[in-house]
Amino acid sequence: MKHNYSVENDNLKLIPLEPEHLETVRVWRNELNTRTRFISQNIISEEQQRQWYANYLKKEDDLAFIIVDKDSAKPIGTVSLCSIRPETGEAELGREIIGDVNNRGKGYGASALKLVIDFAFKQLNLDEVYGEVLADNAASIRMLEKCGLTFVEKFEKNNLVLHKMVLKKI
Ligand SMILES: CC(C)(COP(=O)(O)OP(=O)(O)OC[C@H]1O[C@@H](n2cnc3c(N)ncnc32)[C@H](O)[C@@H]1OP(=O)(O)O)[C@@H](O)C(=O)NCCC(=O)NCCS
Repeated sequence: MKHNYSVENDNLKLIPLEPEHLETVRVWRNELNTRTRFISQNIISEEQQRQWYANYLKKEDDLAFIIVDKDSAKPIGTVSLCSIRPETGEAELGREIIGDVNNRGKGYGASALKLVIDFAFKQLNLDEVYGEVLADNAASIRMLEKCGLTFVEKFEKNNLVLHKMVLKKI
């Protein structure tokens, strides 16, 4: 399943995460205003990133995408479908980053996420996607709402307050 998926709309294309993207993604993820938006906020080393990717390739329940802007043909971000559970029909929308802060708030995040949701519902035949987002991440919550997800519960993990948001296939 890892290497034969690719989805696109008029502006964006989602392609599989490959070794050549790892350093770009690591740099995006390590930016202060990005890593503080995730549950795990540590700086990731090159070695840790390589290890993570090696483990990722063995996993059957996790698909990481690179978001490519079709106009420039450049990677602008990343997004994943994690914890894919065909037995319950659920998966988590996770690890989304629009790398350059100047590209944020322009609709790329929601546009890419809609492609992932479509992929989950139509190609993987799942019927529920959810996101777990820090309660103070207003941009991410707004992006999830724009994609149709709604708040279901507030909970704590690692002393952080999170919101779980869900979208069921109609
Ligand atoms: C979260 C993220 C992926 C969203 O991508 P994006 O391209 O900026 O998202 P969009 O432009 O599609 O939507 C963001 C929405 O939030 C709004 N927004 C941005 N900052 C906001 C703020 N501080 N308060 C309220 N709304 C805010 C934007 O105006 C936009 O809504 P609109 O289209 O109704 O105007 C991006 O901001 C990012 O990479 N953040 C850092 C990493 C991160 O937080 N990842 C998610 C972890 S759960």
